[in-house]
Amino acid sequence: MTSWRRRLTFTAVSVLAVLGAAAGQAVAEPPAANDVQPQVIGGTPAAQGEFPWIVRLSMGCGGSMITEQIVLTAAHCVPATGPNTGITATLGVVDLQDPNRVVVNSDYVIRAPGAGGPPGDDWALIRLARPVDVPTVPIATTPEFDTGTFTVAGWGAATEGGPQQRFLLKAQVPFIDDEQCMSAGSSYLNLVPAEEICAGNWDSGGVDTCQGDSGGPLLNRDANGEFVLIGTTSWGIGCARPQNPGVYMQASHFSDAILAAAASLGPRCTPAANTTGLAIPDLGEVTSQVTVACDGNASGQTKVEVNINHPYRGDLVVDLIAPDGTSYRLKTAKGDDGADNVNELYTVNAANKAASGTWTLRIRDVFSGDTGTLKNWKLTV
Ligand code: ARG
Repeated sequence: MTSWRRRLTFTAVSVLAVLGAAAGQAVAEPPAANDVQPQVIGGTPAAQGEFPWIVRLSMGCGGSMITEQIVLTAAHCVPATGPNTGITATLGVVDLQDPNRVVVNSDYVIRAPGAGGPPGDDWALIRLARPVDVPTVPIATTPEFDTGTFTVAGWGAATEGGPQQRFLLKAQVPFIDDEQCMSAGSSYLNLVPAEEICAGNWDSGGVDTCQGDSGGPLLNRDANGEFVLIGTTSWGIGCARPQNPGVYMQASHFSDAILAAAASLGPRCTPAANTTGLAIPDLGEVTSQVTVACDGNASGQTKVEVNINHPYRGDLVVDLIAPDGTSYRLKTAKGDDGADNVNELYTVNAANKAASGTWTLRIRDVFSGDTGTLKNWKLTV
């Protein structure tokens, strides 16, 4: 226990303290372990669960889950848009060696269309091969949170030029306005004010993101104290140098494009439909199958579209049965007596079921008097 605490404390120090001491220098000596005063420096280890949606990516960047299957990161962290199974995301932990970590591969990348031009469009989406069971973080869609004191977090270097970190670190960085940021000269003259946001301690430096933090979150708090993602780590000259702030993609400017790109990633597996009509006998039972071939698990938002002609839908009980035999009740016989037909889109949480295999729709008529027809149904796992 003791050594564990020491390790954490030292990590915290080396993180941001070193940078503080480094004012104007490329690299500074780490302070002695007993000099550590993390609260003064501004950086500390993140607690387990504090940033439950943060992701470490295998190319050495950070990211944030914005849906259960999509990571927001930086464009400069990923190759071109297209199918991509070569990226691994590690999440659910602050310690990258934690045996409870969740590890999932990518299956598709969207790189911001403007990436590679002026530096502002530094965002990308990575779709994971399956949904993951962690919370997501909302993206700012208005500039209202683009000022104040922000939170950053990542497993990137704790000193300029230093090694990547095993434990997640966080820090607070004050907003720096565009004009002041550009007054740093050099690359900062190319800042795209509407598309980038600067943060750091202007006079003293000392707190910043650094190499390996790219793509990770720049956060503010909403009126309820909840995190809102207002940017992703992009670039800076050195790290934590005075008058050389960190520069971040400004989410409020790109939110429409980011959310549209996320929607375009659509369902991961090709929807499967069965359009063979089936008579539903009075007091009878019918089943209809579709086959899915798709790696990984089904979605927490598996969609089942059902179209049935029936003069009295209150007679019908409808279930979806997963390939392993688990059944999900889509419709009971109660509550909708009197109405006719079933033309519904049901949502089922099947995130713990393999997507592949034969899925069954089962319809039972449990009251006498009427017959009907299953016209068709469609499953999007
Ligand atoms: N481009 C870096 C990366 O790929 C991020 C650098 C951030 N630098 C800074 N001084 N804030 O990880």
